[in-house]
Amino acid sequence: MTPPPILSPAAPTTAPDLVAGFPFPFPNPTYRYTTNVEPARGVVTTPAGQWGAAVVDVDSAYAEELAERAAILERDPSRHAVLPHMDVACWDAMLCLMRELALARPDAFALEPLEGPRAAYRWRNDLLGIDHAFVLGDASTLPEPPLRWITAQVQEDVVLLDERDGVLYGDAGVVTFAADWSFGFDVGMSFLEIHGPVPRIHSEGVITRAHEFIKRLQPNETYRRTNWTLTVHRRLDVSTETYPDWGPDRPMVLGVDDETFGRLVHLRTEVQHLVRLPESGAVMFLIRSYLLPFDELARVEEWRERAAAVIAELPEDMADYKGIATYRDRAAAWLRAQAPTP
Ligand code: HEM
Repeated sequence: MTPPPILSPAAPTTAPDLVAGFPFPFPNPTYRYTTNVEPARGVVTTPAGQWGAAVVDVDSAYAEELAERAAILERDPSRHAVLPHMDVACWDAMLCLMRELALARPDAFALEPLEGPRAAYRWRNDLLGIDHAFVLGDASTLPEPPLRWITAQVQEDVVLLDERDGVLYGDAGVVTFAADWSFGFDVGMSFLEIHGPVPRIHSEGVITRAHEFIKRLQPNETYRRTNWTLTVHRRLDVSTETYPDWGPDRPMVLGVDDETFGRLVHLRTEVQHLVRLPESGAVMFLIRSYLLPFDELARVEEWRERAAAVIAELPEDMADYKGIATYRDRAAAWLRAQAPTP
């Protein structure tokens, strides 16, 4: 007997909560780089649902994405790096992420201080079956280093920035889902150096303003911004390291039929949070990557129309930097062609 196909061509490829919670990144009909930061936790309603209430977002892809992160780290340990002076920041980040998880999903996560003279806690993650007591700062009480352990429990990538002499440096992190950059290459670089390859933002002052803004963040203050690109396939790891695996998809997608194009090309939104950690003074930068295939996006009329306009109008240097120059015209035309017939 032939097994039934996993997905019929007409079936949605994405779980309903991933559409309803998709952070559509285009508030305007054109897109330019700006220092687009706003206070975190504000709920944004969209034609499909809403997003933004939580700093750390847990959705139906939780188990799948964490398994992918674990496999990537196993293959390539350079996705996790902590410079020696970042130890306190890693503990700080772990505690902050635990608190955020418990805030977002009190039914599934709990952090409880334990009685006694030492800074002891009990952490429960019911989604992964973890129930563990630890002492803050005592690595022997954790199964793994603190940043590694907690990033196995959140879907976000994490970079920790240290501030020295008025300059921010990306000195620690776990990044498995980078969009066309390399954490292993960037670790230890300053904020300005990290943004070196991005066109426009230096001459337009976007990045110096962002740097000054981040340095003014007070302990526990939390802001967010979005960034976006297009990705072929539902592929979270499009890092420089794996370019040979995904680079050829960009020209390849020009050769596929329309039905396949709509299934393969995804709008990728990054929701990025910035938190000033209270004990170490480090800045925690969270990058959460959401992928929505065009054929799902096009079912939401406002999104279809807006995405088509933004992608068609995007200046060439920005399209080039985002790696979408070869197929963005087809992407815009594809979206336009899905307009409902009057
Ligand atoms: C308000 C804060 C920030 C602003 C306004 C900002 C702005 C930008 C912009 C406009 C891009 C180009 C994105 C694209 O076209 O796809 C970019 C890329 C990037 N940003 Fe930021 N960013 C901010 C914070 C951060 C922080 C805290 C980090 C932490 C390390 C970071 C790491 C990166 C990296 C690694 C890239 C890719 C660079 C490459 O191509 O190698 N950003 N950022």
